[in-house]
Amino acid sequence: MAQPDFDGQLEIAARIVAEASYLIALVGAGLSKESGIPTFRGGDGLWDKFGEPPMNDYQRFLDDPANWWAERLAQQSARGGDFARAIDEAQPNAGHVAMAELERAGLLKHIITQNIDNLHQEAGSEAITEIHGNRTKMRCINCGRRWKREEFVSDEVPPKCPDCQGLVKNDTVMFGEPIPQDALQSCFEHAQRADAVLLVGTSAVVYPAAEFPVIAYRRGARLIEVNPQETPLSDVCSALLRAPSGEALPRLLDRARELAKA
Ligand code: APR
Repeated sequence: MAQPDFDGQLEIAARIVAEASYLIALVGAGLSKESGIPTFRGGDGLWDKFGEPPMNDYQRFLDDPANWWAERLAQQSARGGDFARAIDEAQPNAGHVAMAELERAGLLKHIITQNIDNLHQEAGSEAITEIHGNRTKMRCINCGRRWKREEFVSDEVPPKCPDCQGLVKNDTVMFGEPIPQDALQSCFEHAQRADAVLLVGTSAVVYPAAEFPVIAYRRGARLIEVNPQETPLSDVCSALLRAPSGEALPRLLDRARELAKA
């Protein structure tokens, strides 16, 4: 597919954003790439380099949580160190800030993020569902209660929930782990209300996350893709912004705000 002219696509996208009554966004690792956090796919991603993690990660946790905790700490120092360090040092970029501004301007109603890095919140976004969890939080896998990592204190290994004695783990959703019910429910609700969807920095190949734009599209919503590369959803998008999100989103914000005022 030939590179669409950016300015023409930006005008179409900005009009969709300005006219939408319930714009939501599905966000992926590409949004945080300009904050120094590697993506997973797309040629130079983590999974391209190290291979995808085993799909039975969660089952291994359930089978022996104490051993899992010990391994996790060891693994972090072996492989995940770079990734964890990149997230620790990352700051929100212009793309995160533009999305927070879109929300403050009343143009963006909700963000469904696949990112676990907490950068949306650090940029000022509030209406967020973290479908793959948040690495700065802990969660009880039984009752679903969450804590800020620093507020959860336990000297038990594996740590247990003070309310229900359930197993507690990092809030990040592991491969093979079911998406927490509250997050899933929230995604469905917003997808069913949306009349427009921004697809930002996602390869749109991981489910159920990639399903939500399709649910909205089937109900008549218009899709806008912000991604230097094509994805399986490109063909059903009304506008394609083939640029890094840190460049495209601030321009989309400015133009959409102008049109919304007009
Ligand atoms: N701006 C916008 N998009 C970008 C940028 C950028 N600066 N750089 C790369 N991209 C795009 C790539 O072209 C690719 O389509 O971001 C996408 C990143 O895709 P993935 O690495 O597959 O990330 P994501 O879609 O979030 O993956 C979904 O898979 O491995 C799991 O749990 C992990 O949440 C993750 C999920």
